[in-house]
Amino acid sequence: MQIKNICCIGAGYVGGPTMAVIALKCPHINVTVVDANPKKIKAWNGPLDALPVYEPGLSEVVKQARGRNLFFSEDIRGNIEKAEMIFMAVNTPTKTEGEGAGMAADLRYIESCAKDIAKYSKSDKIVIEKSTLPVRTAEKIKEILEENSNGIHFEILSNPEFLAEGTAIQDLFKSDRVLIGGDESESGQKAVKALVDIYANWISKEKILTTNVWSSELAKLASNAMLAQRISSINSLSALCEKTGADIDELSKAIGMDQRIGPKFLKASVGFGGSCFQKDILNLVYLCKHYGLDEVAEYWHQVIKINDYQKNRFVQKIIEGFEKDIQGQKIAILGWAFKANTNDSRGSASIYVSNELLAAGAVLKIYDPMVDESRIRMDLEILWESQALTKKEIERRNASIFFVNDHKSALIGSMAVAILTEWEEFKNYPWDSISQAAKIYDGRKIIQKNKFNVDKIYSLGV
Ligand code: NAD
Ligand code: UGA
Repeated sequence: MQIKNICCIGAGYVGGPTMAVIALKCPHINVTVVDANPKKIKAWNGPLDALPVYEPGLSEVVKQARGRNLFFSEDIRGNIEKAEMIFMAVNTPTKTEGEGAGMAADLRYIESCAKDIAKYSKSDKIVIEKSTLPVRTAEKIKEILEENSNGIHFEILSNPEFLAEGTAIQDLFKSDRVLIGGDESESGQKAVKALVDIYANWISKEKILTTNVWSSELAKLASNAMLAQRISSINSLSALCEKTGADIDELSKAIGMDQRIGPKFLKASVGFGGSCFQKDILNLVYLCKHYGLDEVAEYWHQVIKINDYQKNRFVQKIIEGFEKDIQGQKIAILGWAFKANTNDSRGSASIYVSNELLAAGAVLKIYDPMVDESRIRMDLEILWESQALTKKEIERRNASIFFVNDHKSALIGSMAVAILTEWEEFKNYPWDSISQAAKIYDGRKIIQKNKFNVDKIYSLGV
C-alpha cells in the first residue's frame, strides 16, 4: 500500500515531535496532526518560539516542514477521511474513577479516537497505536472499529514511542530501535511493511524490530518499568549511603562500569517524575493483578513506593533542617519541570515537595526557566482538588507562593534552597558564595561537595 497521507490524532508531546520528524524525513508524504483542542493547533501554527512543546531542535524541524508537507489542523473528520494511515497519539492517563481507579489506564481518549476513525472512514486504513496502552488493547480497538464501520477493513498496528522529553528530536533521529507489532495475517504483514518503509527513510533496517501486537504493547510498558526500576534501585541505595558513609555517585560509577549493568539511569535524585513512569507502572501492576499474578504486581509496585519514599525523605530533611520551626520561613524552589530541557511539569517531584513544604507552613519563592506561573499554579490546584482541601486552606497555601524571574532573586532572603530540576543555569551558579545562613538541599546532585560547602549542603546519598 502506498502511503501518501498520514493523519495523527493528538498534537501533544508525542504527536507533535514524532510527526514533525516523519514529515521532515519523508517529504513525499503529507502529514497532518489534528487535535480536539483548537488552542493547541493554533499554537502549533503560530510563532516558532512559542510552540506548545519545548524541545531542543524541534522548532528547526517544524520550520523546515510546516506548510510543505507538515500541517496542523482542527479538521479531524476531513483528515481521517483523506489518510491511508492514522496514528493515535492521545493521552492515556491513570483512571481516576470507576473500576481500576488509581491504577488502570483511562482508555476513554483512545476509544473516542477509534470511534471517530470508524465514523469518518470511507476507505481501508492502517490504524496505529502510538499511545502507550495496556497489552491487548488492540483487540478492544478492533471491536470498536468493526462495530461502527461499514465493511471497511482496518489493520491495527502497535508502534509505541520511546522518545524521552528534553531529547525528543535527537531520540527520533537516532532511535535505539523502532518497534512495530502487527498481525501475522497477510494483510497484517502488508501493513507492517508499509510502516517499516516509512521509518526506513532514516532508520537503518536492523534497528526496526517487528513483533506480534501483544509483545509490542507489553514491551513499551516493560521498558518504562525497567528504566524506572533502575532509578528506584539507586535511590533506595542513596538512603543506605547516608547511613554508612558510602557516596551514591561513587557507588553508581562503580556499579555502572560493569558492562552487564551499564552507567545510564543510575543517577540518584529526588525521585522520578514525568507523565509516564508512574502511570505505566501502575498500569502494569493492574494488569498483573488482573491476571492473578499478585507477586509480580507487588514486585513492580515497589518501584513506585520507593519513589514516594525518596520524595518524602527529601522533604523531611528540609523540615528537620528548620528544627521543626518552618512556619513562615522562606524557601527557594529551583526548578519545576520534571527534568531539564522540557517545559513539561506533569508528575514532577517539585509539585509534591512544594506542597508538603506549604502544608508545613513554609513560604515558597519559585523559579523555573521554562514553566510559567499559570502552569505551576494549575499543578498545585489539581493536587489540592484531589486532596479535597478546604477553600480556606487553599487560599492560605496560595498566599504563601511567590514567583520570581531568575534563580538569583529566589535566593534573596531564603533560608533554604531546594534544587529540584537539573537546569544548566543552576549547575553554573557559584554556590559556595551564597549566604552562610541558607542551607542548600540538592535533589539533583549538581553541586560538588567540598570543604567550603560541606556544612551548607544536603546532597542525596552522601
Ligand atoms: P499529551 O497530553 O501531551 O497529548 C495528547 C493530546 O491528545 C492532547 O493535545 C489532547 O487534546 C489530544 N486528544 C485527546 N483525545 C483526543 C481525541 N479524541 N481527538 C483528538 N485529540 C485528542 O500526551 P503525550 O505526552 O503526547 O502522550 C501521548 C501518549 O504517548 C500517552 O499514551 C503517553 O503515555 C505516550 N508517550 C508519551 C511520551 C512523552 O514523552 N510524553 C513518550 C512516549 C510515549
Ligand atoms: C521516559 C523514558 O525514558 C522514555 O523512553 C519513554 O518514551 C517516556 O518515559 C514515556 O513513555 O513517556 P521521560 O519521562 O520523558 O522518558 O524522561 P526520562 O529521561 O526517562 O526521565 C524520567 C524521570 O526520571 C525524570 O524525572 C528524570 O529526572 C528522572 N531520572 C532519570 C532520574 O532521577 N535518574 C536517572 O538516572 C534518570
